Amino acid sequence: MTKITAVLLAAGQGTRMKSDLPKVLHPVCGRPMALYGLDAARSASTETPVLVVGVGAAEVRKTLGEEVEYVLQETPLGTGHAVKQAESLLKGKTDYVIVTYADMPLLRGSTLQKLVQAQISNSGPMSMLTAIYDDPRGFGRVIRKTDGTVAEIVEEYVATPEQLAVKELNVGAYCFRADWLWDALHRIPMSKKGEYYLTDTVELARKDGLPVQAIVLDDLVEIIGVNTRIHLSEAEAAMRQRINQMHMLNGVTLIDPASTYIEAGVTIGADTVIWPNTYIQGETSIGQGCSIGPNTHIRESKIGNRCKVFMSVMEGALLENDVDMGPFARLRKGARLCDHVHMGNFGEVKDSTLGPGVKMGHFSYIGNAQIGPDVNIGAGTITCNYDGEKKHPTEIGEGVFLGSDTMLVAPVKLGEFARTGAGAVVTRDIPADSLAVGVPARVVRTLERKKKVDNP
Ligand code: UD1
Ligand code: MG
Repeated sequence: MTKITAVLLAAGQGTRMKSDLPKVLHPVCGRPMALYGLDAARSASTETPVLVVGVGAAEVRKTLGEEVEYVLQETPLGTGHAVKQAESLLKGKTDYVIVTYADMPLLRGSTLQKLVQAQISNSGPMSMLTAIYDDPRGFGRVIRKTDGTVAEIVEEYVATPEQLAVKELNVGAYCFRADWLWDALHRIPMSKKGEYYLTDTVELARKDGLPVQAIVLDDLVEIIGVNTRIHLSEAEAAMRQRINQMHMLNGVTLIDPASTYIEAGVTIGADTVIWPNTYIQGETSIGQGCSIGPNTHIRESKIGNRCKVFMSVMEGALLENDVDMGPFARLRKGARLCDHVHMGNFGEVKDSTLGPGVKMGHFSYIGNAQIGPDVNIGAGTITCNYDGEKKHPTEIGEGVFLGSDTMLVAPVKLGEFARTGAGAVVTRDIPADSLAVGVPARVVRTLERKKKVDNP
């Protein structure tokens, strides 16, 4: 089997980002940018990708994990020197080497696959990607021979006026025949800036009398490389558009894609509608037929089918099916709303389960509580779960009816079908089927359990 290995360069200083965070870890749509390049590389190669790291190597490794081989370039002496650091790891172990940069998150795997195919049918030692673009972006210019093969890549700072006028640019993605590459890397001359440029391999091939092929990109968005925060925002916008289009093609309606911010780790089922100014972040999944937004922020959450989340915020929360929440509801970590829960305005739920069919219409705080099925939580109900030192649990049985403004001073338990009067301050457990009122709440009578009647 033909072995193909990708080497991604990430050892440059990234000085222009003016950041403590290594450049390739800056997120694009919620994901460290290097991960996109690594995914693309994996789809076009057969071996574990290699990342050449320099400044911040430990941090990069910690974030990107161990499904990557790391090679250290101690001093950034240029792109050619960077690739050379992978020689001892890869020599004799791969037939082809893809080289690209870890700061080009928009580069597609399918594009790298085309590049590899071009090289496999190339009689010469290398193939490269180019783009024809009016804005040169400081890229190297691609000089072609009359037969269409590439003669050389000229870096902008040494280009003549005629060369500067060339519109074909070096994107920064190459595929090499490995044995030729390892040898050529030792023949690269030092540049005027004291660096060893990978781009000089083109001229070496020409000197060897071997052809360099170039394939031209059709989608210019792929060439966005991140050197500054301005480029980062361009990459973010382009990636956001790509993600939004993917969801729309999968059957999700985005009322206004321009104001819909969906991160890379999100999945959404068909026939869900996302309203404007909505942010869906982290590892979040949303089922089918939901209505989400407008003005909604969802992070690291799971939402079932047919849910409605209207002008609300949720983080680390779970909605089962047919839940309806908002406007102005807030779910925090560990909130779980079971089937058919209705949660209206100005409520907050944290580390609690609201059983199936629970109604919590207005102004409530529920923390560290287990609430059984079909409980009605009156307006203004509060679980007083924190005594200044510890959090305490509240347990509420099936069918309980909490009067408006009930204070549940935890730890406390309410048995099935109990009721509280408006303004009750519950400091002690209430048995099933009892009505408790007052401050502190006392049981005043036993209730007859109403038979559940199905709506005719
Ligand atoms: C490079 C190309 C240029 C191309 C452009 C596309 C060279 C000499 N020039 O220029 O023709 O048009 O990319 O973006 O290759 N890096 C290292 N170690 C180093 C130097 C760089 O790992 O010693 C990494 C950087 O982290 C970066 C990538 O290589 O990811 C490119 O380096 P950069 O300095 O940005 O090259 P450009 O000037 O952009
Ligand atoms: Mg660059």
